[in-house]
Amino acid sequence: MIAIPEPTDLCRLAEKHDTDKGTSYTQTYHRWLGHLREQRLRMLEIGLYNGGSLRMWRDYLPQAVLHGIDIEPRTLSYQDEVPNSQVRLVDQGDPAALEAFVAELGGHYDFVLDDGGHTMLQQIVSFEVLWPQIMPGGVYAIEDFGTSYFVEYGGQDLRHPDTAADYVKDLVDAVQRDQALMPPQGVRSAVSPIALAKMRRDVASVHVHPGLALIVKKF
Ligand SMILES: C[S@@+](CC[C@H](N)C(=O)[O-])C[C@H]1O[C@@H](n2cnc3c(N)ncnc32)[C@H](O)[C@@H]1O
Repeated sequence: MIAIPEPTDLCRLAEKHDTDKGTSYTQTYHRWLGHLREQRLRMLEIGLYNGGSLRMWRDYLPQAVLHGIDIEPRTLSYQDEVPNSQVRLVDQGDPAALEAFVAELGGHYDFVLDDGGHTMLQQIVSFEVLWPQIMPGGVYAIEDFGTSYFVEYGGQDLRHPDTAADYVKDLVDAVQRDQALMPPQGVRSAVSPIALAKMRRDVASVHVHPGLALIVKKF
């Protein structure tokens, strides 16, 4: 029998810092990051809102380099409050802006967390630009993954192509079969078919939870 996990430090910190991250998210992150807490990880969160999650990560990962992006000018001030953090105004749906951000701050992330605008375009474009920046063994997380089924976010009914959920289902094929050289199915791609094929070769595993997808890179 698999025991229900105890509330973790991260769950308590999420509450303390008034983030919108529920226990199901924080317990999952703790499973992936709990043994790395004292390491100098490089982490990026897309979407900062009131800065609570940046403060939460600061407490949970005291050695980590924390980067954050948002489109709200007020979020720039969080980098003055949170030690060893950098915040930039970047639209996650704009590939050129994301590339410029990576060029400025160096990329090479152990953990990227997309908690931004949650539209299909934003989730897919951000993944395609930032996945190459994930370090071997690193994790890319997409929160509010259920927006794939909400029309107001560009989502669709079940089994409809061109959603972030469908995109991630394609990555399951990349893990299970040598499908890496197949042309992309979606039309929202921010990168060339060749770049996309290369990215798919790097996927070690795909984990889907209610409202959350995690894509893990091969070592
Ligand atoms: C759900 S809130 C983030 C919550 C925060 N991560 C937490 O856990 O408490 C979403 C944030 O994404 C930002 N956002 C919306 N569209 C965006 C975009 N295109 N690029 C970057 N950030 C965006 C919003 O301004 C907002 O601050």
